[in-house]
Amino acid sequence: MAQIQAIKGFADLFPAQSRVFQMMEARAREIFPRYGFGELRTPLMEYTDLFCRGIGTETDVVQKEMYCIPDSKGRSMSLRPEATAGVMRAYIESGVHARESVSKFFTIGPMFRHERPQKGRMRQFHQINCECLGPKEPEADAEIICMMMDFLGSLGLHNLTLQINSLGCSSCRPVYRKTLHDWLARLDPALLCEDCKRRMETNPLRVLDCKVPACKEATAGAPVLLDNECPECREHFAAVLRHLDAEHVPYEINHRLVRGLDYYTRTTWEVVSNDIGAQGSVAGGGRYDGLVAQLGGPAVPGIGFACGMERLALLLEGRPQPESRPDFFMAVLDPSCRDAAFGLTQKLRHEGFSGIMGYESRSMKATMRQAGKSNARCALIMGTNELAAGTVIIKHMESGEQEEAPLAEVSARLTAE
Ligand code: HAM
Repeated sequence: MAQIQAIKGFADLFPAQSRVFQMMEARAREIFPRYGFGELRTPLMEYTDLFCRGIGTETDVVQKEMYCIPDSKGRSMSLRPEATAGVMRAYIESGVHARESVSKFFTIGPMFRHERPQKGRMRQFHQINCECLGPKEPEADAEIICMMMDFLGSLGLHNLTLQINSLGCSSCRPVYRKTLHDWLARLDPALLCEDCKRRMETNPLRVLDCKVPACKEATAGAPVLLDNECPECREHFAAVLRHLDAEHVPYEINHRLVRGLDYYTRTTWEVVSNDIGAQGSVAGGGRYDGLVAQLGGPAVPGIGFACGMERLALLLEGRPQPESRPDFFMAVLDPSCRDAAFGLTQKLRHEGFSGIMGYESRSMKATMRQAGKSNARCALIMGTNELAAGTVIIKHMESGEQEEAPLAEVSARLTAE
């Protein structure tokens, strides 16, 4: 019969990889609460309108990358391509904004984008995402960036570049947009790729972000947003950078960093690595002061970021990984011992030890090979003699030493290991 394969761009995470993901999640769960963040789990599916209004109809994510299905009434639902829009919906719908002036949430889980799969780019991928709603002050920007860098540092990732920019606000960005559009319109159109010719009209800032070398060259002298910002935005950005300097968080200002999602205002950033190929952006985020209102909520500013777990896992490849080591392997030399061995295994598990039951009764040599493969710290060996004596042999796998222990004393001996 034909074998059924996983969907292209959707991957299985076997225990060794899952342990790396669990380690990242554990670090996140340890560090984010120090900054007042609590976990919010939102649905994997939302009405498509939420993403259109939240992320922007002109973005690649909304135009080309969403997995949409109609519900029974024909209303379109989509698998979430990112977490921010869903978190905003939950924040507004729950009314939590009326009860607290600052809300901080982190969300961990799968996201879905129909992109062309390649190393570091999946159709189902995982994000560790954080959102802080309420404060408009630059301290909130610096704080969340520091938290993100603490998290990345806790994974042992230090060789990363934080690129940062300011995208202005609803008063200065439209003016810059027009300035940039007019500048682009004076270029020879043949110098720009087809996408940029279109973007120039729909969202000229995205032209700055184009990866096509000819476009980059043609727009090298384009006016810079930071030079065109209003005094408030400039002051805000300067304060963010001042706090980062004070905290010794290194950054590079990247004038061409505009991000692929439309909700950003003021501070925006990406964390980039040169060690994992073309898909080098491991985290990205920014302020989104108009988003909550745009989705029908109150005028509450916000800021957040997301890290891509697959890309972080790529960076961690080759480093010592967390391993799972059972405390014991239960080796049963004779079928008559199975009931007692099963009982002992369960008793030890209930006492908090991790153990692997050797189901088959084989020769001593074969059984010990199995015990070795299980990577357990000890083998507990039970044959007819031990069964009759009410004991078990504890073999310490590393030293090879053996001792016989009454059943009642096994857990004390394992604890002393
Ligand atoms: P984003 O830049 O679209 O931002 O994604 C954040 C991170 O998710 C990227 O830096 C990358 O590591 C990872 N990522 C994105 N697409 C893929 C993919 N196809 N395969 C593997 N990894 C991927 C956002 O999603 C925003 N919602 C972040 C944010 C939160 N901004 C404010 N709050």
